[in-house]
Amino acid sequence: MKEAQNEFFKYTESYKKYGPKIELKISHTVRVEKLCVDIAKSLNLSDEDVELADMCGLLHDIARFEQWKRYQTYSDLASLDHGDLGVEILKKNNFINKFTKKNHETIFRAVKYHNKYRVPNTISDRNKLFVNITRDADKIDILQLFVNGGLVNHTEDAIISDKVYKAILDKKEIKRTDVKTKADDIAVRLGFVFDLNFKRSYEILKETDYINKMIDVQIKDTKNETLVKQLNELREFVNKYIGEMIKC
Ligand SMILES: [Fe+2]
Repeated sequence: MKEAQNEFFKYTESYKKYGPKIELKISHTVRVEKLCVDIAKSLNLSDEDVELADMCGLLHDIARFEQWKRYQTYSDLASLDHGDLGVEILKKNNFINKFTKKNHETIFRAVKYHNKYRVPNTISDRNKLFVNITRDADKIDILQLFVNGGLVNHTEDAIISDKVYKAILDKKEIKRTDVKTKADDIAVRLGFVFDLNFKRSYEILKETDYINKMIDVQIKDTKNETLVKQLNELREFVNKYIGEMIKC
């Protein structure tokens, strides 16, 4: 794994000249890798499969660097799908061989589908396992970014719109296209909890207290009483859900 990580750092080094935002995705990747390993171990996977989960985490955002270089944005809506581009990059000149000679198809699936709204039913159970580990790890770390100010939101003027609020109460993940206000962006992150696949992912959320911390940060940042009320209601709802998922 060490060699693959070195290869990743070598690759990303050449993108650092495109600005400080490149570092954000390097550190995100390192954290996602660790989360993938944590989740994989909780599932009692073999050492080889834990390493494969680690590899999926390492490579899931490989396209972020090229995306930033080409478009100076990490918004897929404003540029292109970075999961799809990731597979393209790894396939080109068999770049993936520099990281590993094994399990290419599984890694391609994890990269391609880590950021999609839904994972298609057509992929095999084994591939789906690694896709889901990667998706959970990625989502947990995105919540962490919200707590630690990696993502900036100005919520002063905005409340969570009805459709998005209802989606959370219906325990549905929110589609990016339904996002109408800046406050909806916060709700999208809260909605992540309904699309986690493993008990361990919920335990990590509880242990790290990311949901409460994330809401506290947003509440501290706004004088909008309606938004504060919405966030506190959603906090209670989401925490209850996390508790239920840990118990089952
Ligand atoms: Fe990603």
